[in-house]
Order: sequence, then structure tokens, then C-alpha cells
Amino acid sequence: MSAIEALLRRMSLAEKIGQLTMSAADQAVTGPVIAQGLASDVRSGAVGSVLNLHGSERVRAMQRLAVEESRLRIPLFFGLDVIHGFRTLFPVPLAEVAAFDPELWEATAREAACEAAREGVDMTFAPMLDVSRDPRWGRTVEGPGEDPVVGSALARAKVRGFQQADRAQDANLASPAALAAVAKHFCAYGPVQAGREYASVDISERTVREVHLPSFAAAVRSGVVAVMPAFTDLAGIPMTAHREMLCGWLRQQLGFGGVIVSDYNAIGELIAHGVAGERSGAAALALAAGVDIDMMSDAYRYGLPVALARGEASEAQIDAAVLRVLSLKEKLGLFDDPYRRCQGAEPAPTLARRRALARRAATHSLVLLTHRGDVLPLQPGSRLAVIGPLADAAAEMGGSWAAAAEHHASVSVLAGLQSALGAPAVTYAPGVAITGANTSGIVTALQACEGADVIVLCLGEAAAMSGEAASRAIPQLPGCQRELAQAVLARAAELGSPVVTILFSGRPLVVPWLFEQADAVLAAWFPGSEAGAAIADVLTGKTAPSGRTPISWPRSVGQIPIFHAQRPGGRPYAANNHYTSQYMDVPNDPQFPFGHGLTYAHFELSNLRVTPAQCAEDGSIEVRIDVRNAGACTARETVFLFVHDRLASIARPVLELKAWQQVELNAGEQASLQLSLPACELRFLGADLRPCYEPGEVQLYVGPSADRTRLLSTLVHLI
Ligand code: GLC
Repeated sequence: MSAIEALLRRMSLAEKIGQLTMSAADQAVTGPVIAQGLASDVRSGAVGSVLNLHGSERVRAMQRLAVEESRLRIPLFFGLDVIHGFRTLFPVPLAEVAAFDPELWEATAREAACEAAREGVDMTFAPMLDVSRDPRWGRTVEGPGEDPVVGSALARAKVRGFQQADRAQDANLASPAALAAVAKHFCAYGPVQAGREYASVDISERTVREVHLPSFAAAVRSGVVAVMPAFTDLAGIPMTAHREMLCGWLRQQLGFGGVIVSDYNAIGELIAHGVAGERSGAAALALAAGVDIDMMSDAYRYGLPVALARGEASEAQIDAAVLRVLSLKEKLGLFDDPYRRCQGAEPAPTLARRRALARRAATHSLVLLTHRGDVLPLQPGSRLAVIGPLADAAAEMGGSWAAAAEHHASVSVLAGLQSALGAPAVTYAPGVAITGANTSGIVTALQACEGADVIVLCLGEAAAMSGEAASRAIPQLPGCQRELAQAVLARAAELGSPVVTILFSGRPLVVPWLFEQADAVLAAWFPGSEAGAAIADVLTGKTAPSGRTPISWPRSVGQIPIFHAQRPGGRPYAANNHYTSQYMDVPNDPQFPFGHGLTYAHFELSNLRVTPAQCAEDGSIEVRIDVRNAGACTARETVFLFVHDRLASIARPVLELKAWQQVELNAGEQASLQLSLPACELRFLGADLRPCYEPGEVQLYVGPSADRTRLLSTLVHLI
């Protein structure tokens, strides 16, 4: 018998249910209810894990109550949303994904885990793997964007990083620098109806399996030790009670043996969903579906004893859940040393190195959306007018999940540019606030533009306007920022000064007029602690921009959902044919396609070749293409490989992403890239939703984005 099995035998029912109960401290508020009496619950064994508490001393004090004052001295574990950093903030996930650099993604997760674990955190509620094709949904900012292949790559990188995986093993959870990762929110949270937060989700099972499950499968295969179901229902079955998806697909089909932790109050909310009449019913449903830990609803604590008495739940179910939780605590090394993740602050050189990584990550997450007249990079000695409510906004740079970061610790755009160009070269005026209707500051802003060689307009959302509970039906510039922008653009035209706009947001903003009128627009998303330094690096040309948008950018809200992997339909758009798929008032194509991003160099792709011309299911297709930097500066190019199976038993998307590669080339340099595609990855789900492989021709497309006019193509024959 194992030590945890022996421990289980000594536990009372209340102590068992305590291990299945996670309560929140008040250092962060991430849900609608706050726990009362946490310390006494820990002493009595009524709570087995705590979220939203960090800091070595605080964690030590709370842990001491468990391991010195509770009857069985079972250690707690501590969870926190370390989504993109703890104190050192990396770019928000959607921004970091724009770097299309899995090694970077893993590196920042490793560093975030180190930093959080030093202050008592054992588990991060990350990575968030929800594919989103709807910028109205606020949580788009937290995830991988629109593509499941990108989501799967992000899952692998983040799970390995947070859990300090090394070459020998998937997870090194005993490491004091490791965090238990939680793949969330399982699954298909992204397609909430009309982009409205927490709304119902009703999509086909094919889309669930083709689009929303792959990243979770990748997380499980990478050794993730926990999964969090989504708040939402899937076609009427709440994910928190979705026995077929949790017990069936996740645990049985995929072999996931880890812990399933509910989202905040989600078990109790099965009542609001209308599938449970009261807490005992809700608890019974969730436990039967395989949910081990009840985060903050107390449905297990107060409902499971009733459900047991009514025969709606069994002690065997409870025991199985408790063993999974105790096993996780054992893997985390908490029975050996409950204080192993309370080592306290790190030395200055470590923090400096981490900030340098944050700057590198931010630099590569910036996406140059438009660039006319080569106004960038800024010429040395340029005099700048830095205008707008996001110019001197350090507190906004960290985005909506800023964990334990001190907001003032981020570098603002203004500070970054002053540091790069010298303060005398930079004038500043906010003009207007991020929200509100007060335009009285626009006059001063226009005066600040006088004499400037370049006007840098800093516009966008506040950090709190994306993330959880932050859907926007009209995702455009908030407040009266458009009035400011139009006034500055008009004045700039009179002055002959170019306008470079830095756009901060947790989603694509629908601002076609801005893309039309500004000389350049750089999507900064929310770049984290080193925001201003990274933006200055790109604007001054120290680093050429290399970010690519991981989500299609709509021209109009009316186009949503818009994404590259659309199926063709029976009347695909044809310019001169009325009876084909189109709108009367807006083009079909996005403002910017998936993968779009400009740079200061100019890359030429040529000589696409594929071997072998015919490939069997167990073979591998080698795609090669030559890339030349025909520009005048070093830059990084990202090349994507898409496929289209034009004739199959199921209509296939017109573009399916399969792989990508990056290369950094000096001016004039050329390289030959190779992208390998195992033919088995061309399987798809047949009519019975089981993987099938169909011989025949498949079109391969290679290029810098999902803009089909810029893709080179060739054929491969599957046999
Ligand atoms: C929140 C979020 C979830 C987060 C959890 C704990 O409601 O939905 O992503 O991890 O609660 O803060």
C-alpha cells in the first residue's frame, strides 16, 4: 500500500471532502464570491488547497496551520493565475503567440514559474488554450488565437515550461522552481454565443474535435497534471458536469490521470445552468463527471454529505478524487517539504536577466500592421510628439492578468522613447483619457505636435477591457480617442508630420479608418513589464518588427467569426458572380489575415519544392523553400505551411495550418527552409468523426500569412 493510500484510510469523510475543497484568499479577486474563515477551515482540514495567496511569509503562515495544527497535517497547495508572468510580466498570451516562437513561449513560462514558486505558488491556472475566432470575447487575449495547431504548440511549450520539464522527463514537479500547470478552460469556451462572456456554446461535435480539443490533447501528451473545465455549457451540458468529455474523452480516451479542478464557483453554478436543483445535486453531477476539486463553491463541502446520504454519490468516487489530489501534492514534493516553494526574492542579476527576456519577448510580439512611406524606423535625432492616453500608462502595460506585478514597475511608451532618444527629443500630451467624453485636452495635444518630426499616437483599450468578464460588442477605440486621433491626423497633415500609431488591446480592434489614415500602425497588444523599451527598440530600428497576428483582424464586427480555416461552401466567392458567398456592404477578406505582420526588410520566397511527389500514410513530406532578405536590414521572417485537401469525403477548410518556420537573415542573405509534414497529419475526421486517411491530391501552400494571393503552392499525391 502506498503512503497516500495509507493516509486515505485514516481520513474522515469531512477530511476527504476537505482535500477536494479549494478556497480563495483575498490577495486577488478572480470571482464573484470570497471565502470567510479560511484559517479556521485550514486548521480543521475543511480546505485542502488555497488560491489567490502568495508571498513566502503569508504562504508559510497558512501552510503552518495545515501541517502543524490540522489533525492529519496534510500540506496545502497554493494556486494563482500566473498567466504571463508573476512580478516580471511577459506579453499577454495573444501577444506572445504573435512571436510564433515556441522556444520563447517555453522560456517565459519557465521564468514565470521560477519567480512565482519563490513566493509560495505551487500551481498556475495556465496555460489557457481556448481557440478564439471572435474578438468580441474578452478572453481572446489569454489564449492562442484562432488556430488549433498554434494552440497545440503553445500547450506543449507552456506545460513544459511551467512544469520545468527537461529532456529526461515531461514534468519535474519536485523542483522548487516548478509549478503544476492547469490546461484550461476545457473546452470550447471561445465560441460563446455572440462573443458574450459566459454565454452558451452550441457548435458541432466536428468543430469541437477539429478545433477545440487538439490543444488539450497536446497539453495532456506533454504531461500537464491538471485540467480546468470551462464555465460554459456545450450544447446544453455544462462542461463542469460533462461526464462524456471529462471521464470519457479526457480520462479514458486520452488517459489523463491528473486532477480536474473546477473553475471559480462553477460547481455551484450548475444550479444557475438549470441542471441541478441545489448543492448536493450539483456536487453529485460534478463528482460523477470527474471533477476532483471544487474551487470556491462549497458544493462539495456542504453538498457531498447529502448526496452520499441520498445515494447520489459514493465514497469510492470521493476516495478516487482524494487520491488524485494527494498524488499531486506528493509529486509537488509537499509531503517532503511543505515550504519548498517559499524561498523568497531572487538576486538582482536573476531579475535583470528575466527583465531582458521580457523585453525580448515583447519586442518579438509587436505586429507592424501597416507601414507607408518608410516612416519607420525613426531617424536618429528625431523629435517626437508622443500623444494619447496609452503613452504614459505603465499600469496598463501588463494586461488583465497581472498576477503580483507592481503596475508602476512597467516601462511606459513615453519612458521607453525618452530613454532611447533622450527626454528633450520627446514632447508629450495625453489628449484624452482612455474612456470618457472629455475632449478638452485635445487642444494641448495638438500644440504638442508642433515642431515634431514624427507624431507617435498611443491609443487603445485599458487592460481591464479584455480578459475575463470583458466582452465588447463593439470592439473599437473606447471613449473619445477617435476624436483625438482624427484631430491629430488632420494637424499632422497640415504640418507634414507622419503619424505612427501604437495600438494597445487584448483583441483586434475594428478601426479601419485608422489603418487608412495613419502612416504606420503597430499592434502592441499588452507587452508587459518592458513594454516601452520593446516599442522603442522597434521604432528606432534596433530590432526590426517580426510579430505576426495569430488571429484574423476583422474589417467589421459583421464579419465575425472570421478565420483562415473556413470551408469553401458550394458557392465560394467569385468577383463577377452575384450568386456567390459575399456581403453587399463589406469585402469577405479580413482587414489583416492570420499571420500578417510587416517588417523593415523585404523577403522574397522562391523555389518551392516537395519530396517525395507521392507519399504514403507512414511517410513524411519534406517541403523546401528559399527565402532571401532583399531588404537593407537584418530581420526575422516567418513562413507558414498550409494545406487544402480539395477532394475528400468531408469538405475540408480552404487553408489548414500545418507548420511554420522562422529564420533571421541579414540584408542580402538567403536561406533554404525545410518544413516536414508527416503524411499522417493529413488525416482528418471522417463522417463518423474518426480519423481517416484518404489518398489523393493535396494542395500545399507556403507563404508569409493566410493571404492567399501571397502563397506559393504545389501538389503532393497521397497514396
Ligand atoms: C476565474 C477564471 C479562471 C481562473 C480562476 C481562478 O474565474 O475563469 O481562468 O483561473 O477563476 O482565478
